[in-house]
Amino acid sequence: MVKGHGASDVMLRLNNGVEVPALGLGTYKLVGEAAYAPVRAALGCGYRHIDTASFYENEEAVGRAVRESGVPREEVFITSKVWNTEQGFEETLNAFDRTLQRLGMDHLDLYLVHWPVPGKRLETYRALERLYEEGRVRAIGVSNFTVRHLEELYGACQVMPAVNQVEMSPFLYQKELLEHCRGRNVLVTAFSPLARGQALGDPVLAEVAARHRRSPAQVMIRWCLQKGMAVIPRSADPTHIKENADVFDFSLAEEDMARLDLLHTGLRTTTDPDIYE
Ligand SMILES: NC(=O)c1ccc[n+]([C@@H]2O[C@H](COP(=O)([O-])OP(=O)(O)OC[C@H]3O[C@@H](n4cnc5c(N)ncnc54)[C@H](OP(=O)(O)O)[C@@H]3O)[C@@H](O)[C@H]2O)c1
Repeated sequence: MVKGHGASDVMLRLNNGVEVPALGLGTYKLVGEAAYAPVRAALGCGYRHIDTASFYENEEAVGRAVRESGVPREEVFITSKVWNTEQGFEETLNAFDRTLQRLGMDHLDLYLVHWPVPGKRLETYRALERLYEEGRVRAIGVSNFTVRHLEELYGACQVMPAVNQVEMSPFLYQKELLEHCRGRNVLVTAFSPLARGQALGDPVLAEVAARHRRSPAQVMIRWCLQKGMAVIPRSADPTHIKENADVFDFSLAEEDMARLDLLHTGLRTTTDPDIYE
């Protein structure tokens, strides 16, 4: 749904009708105050979607950056996540309160179960359903859920997850998971879409990027968008933040997409969630 060429102009519709900007800023590793300037820079160049988590220890700085940016709260889509040690029904309700308090906000746009912790994930998700019913969060979902974890959840939930946030890049093309989610109307958000910078020198990526007069990072982000995913690259560098948003005025041809698909080597920058029983 393209309305223009800005970072906030391309919106994706969740299965409950809520819209999310396709591009957001990731904030992992931007601990505490380190998140403030990147969030301000991102909002300043048009981002309207910020991804944080209790685990990132930066919700306070993220909230303050949003407030001090002058961008109205309702124009920014804020995602946070309940951390593994906070899981459980009551524990999650309390964790959500702490998250809102740190952010200095009265609601979240999206709240996710960060990892499919065995023995805890279903009651954790039930707490998210409660928060959703109470109108304290506009959408709920999961992160790092495999098809197996999702199928278990479908059998137990009242509210379908709107999002599954998982690691995805041309170097980790989880095609089966993406197709499964598409079939169930669960939006996939690609995390670590730049493989944390580990593969930016790949020659195929370089060739595609040079031909489009774009950077390898822009091509990786564009690949995610053209697969129908939301995407949340992280950067602390204002030049990179702007560059990463400058991805809506070019497109990769089918042949380029097919070549990028073949870069899949299974490169992961974090734990394979399949280890979670
Ligand atoms: N749900 C989960 O379990 C989970 C797990 C991991 C991540 N995430 C989310 O996904 C977000 C993104 O993933 P990530 O932080 O792991 O890594 P990423 O976005 O794949 O990569 C970040 C790295 O790429 C560099 N970079 C960014 N833009 C660049 C550009 N244009 N050119 C060259 N280098 C560039 C950054 O350095 P500079 O700062 O120097 O630009 C940084 O070192 C996270 O921040 C977090 O919000 C979620």
